[in-house]
Amino acid sequence: MIPPVKRTVVLAVTVDRPEPEVIERAAEVLRSGGLVAFPTETVYGLGANALDAAAVRRIFEAKGRPADDPVIVHLASADELGRVARRVPAVARRLAEAFWPGPLTLLLPRAAAVPLEVTAGLDTVGVRVPDHPVALALISAAGVPIAAPSANRFGHTSPTLAEHVLADLEGRVDVVLDAGPTPYGVESTVLDLSSGRPRVLRPGGVSVEALEQVLGRRVGVGRRGGPGRSPGMLARHYAPSARLELFEGPSEAALAAMRARAEALLRQGSRVGLLVAREDLERLGLAEHDRRLTVEVLGSERDLAEVARRLYAGLRRLDALQADVILARTFGREELGLAIADRLRRAAARRRRVAGTRPPQAESA
Ligand code: TXA
Ligand code: MG
Repeated sequence: MIPPVKRTVVLAVTVDRPEPEVIERAAEVLRSGGLVAFPTETVYGLGANALDAAAVRRIFEAKGRPADDPVIVHLASADELGRVARRVPAVARRLAEAFWPGPLTLLLPRAAAVPLEVTAGLDTVGVRVPDHPVALALISAAGVPIAAPSANRFGHTSPTLAEHVLADLEGRVDVVLDAGPTPYGVESTVLDLSSGRPRVLRPGGVSVEALEQVLGRRVGVGRRGGPGRSPGMLARHYAPSARLELFEGPSEAALAAMRARAEALLRQGSRVGLLVAREDLERLGLAEHDRRLTVEVLGSERDLAEVARRLYAGLRRLDALQADVILARTFGREELGLAIADRLRRAAARRRRVAGTRPPQAESA
């Protein structure tokens, strides 16, 4: 455990036209080995110069992250790939062209310039070009590739607002660039290209369906076992402090089970938080006046982008209200539904109660 060592400076920055002097101030902190939290299109990242081993170690210290969990490297453009990857297979080029800038992380052979701290000793490096004007301006101004995991304490819910970063890392990061909420709300898709068939190790902002369309072939989902541990692969991750129980939706049976569980908990005197779709409100028909019940509406079940965008903030809000138990439901497995289900499952790991017949799947991502 390292003690908090400094004051965190929060700098507001405009999303569409990042102020050059603000960006330059943050870039200078990065160049001199400091930590800058910055918005990407997915979540806020905790950035450091990816080519500076000491700076990268500070990321791990600040997050309380175990050293054997690799960090993603962010570039301003695919033209910079040669700085971090030894070799770029044709399939990676094709994917980069289709999805960058955007929420897709490609695992590529690590170039010698990338310290082993970044890749946790692995021979592959995760790389992406984020689709956010502030992130791109910052990386360009820094002039170096930027290593950045999500800007939360290890294992905790990822930050989609600068306030979330401060709640977890105040005093542990030099600068926080505040550009408001991040547009995707779930992290990038991590794609392994190291063996024959491309495999999604972590579902995210780019869907499996979209990858398959560009590649013209099936894409595997989930880790095959073998080497290369990933923190996003841990069964319990992205977690709030309250207990989270998950109901596999969308189905009438799941909602009925959720309702019965909420009523039982309320009868016991528990404070209950519900994480649901707008459409669920009527279907659940729960007693509206119970003050121990808080309902967090993520959005319409027909707009998974909206659900994803609000997911982590919703979890944090229910946590802040000190719910004893959070009840949530999944949104199917298609498109963004897969990433949403993955994060909810990890947030609920070992504590969940699943309605229906599907057994828990710890390695589903
Ligand atoms: O959207 C995102 O990816 C955000 C923003 C800030 O870019 N970053 C993020 O980083 O979510 P992090 O560190 O919280 O998650 C990175 C994931 C982990 O599951 C990690 O194991 C995996 O990517 N990863 C990174 N490099 C890897 C490698 N060389 N081999 C296997 N997995 C890797
Ligand atoms: Mg993370």
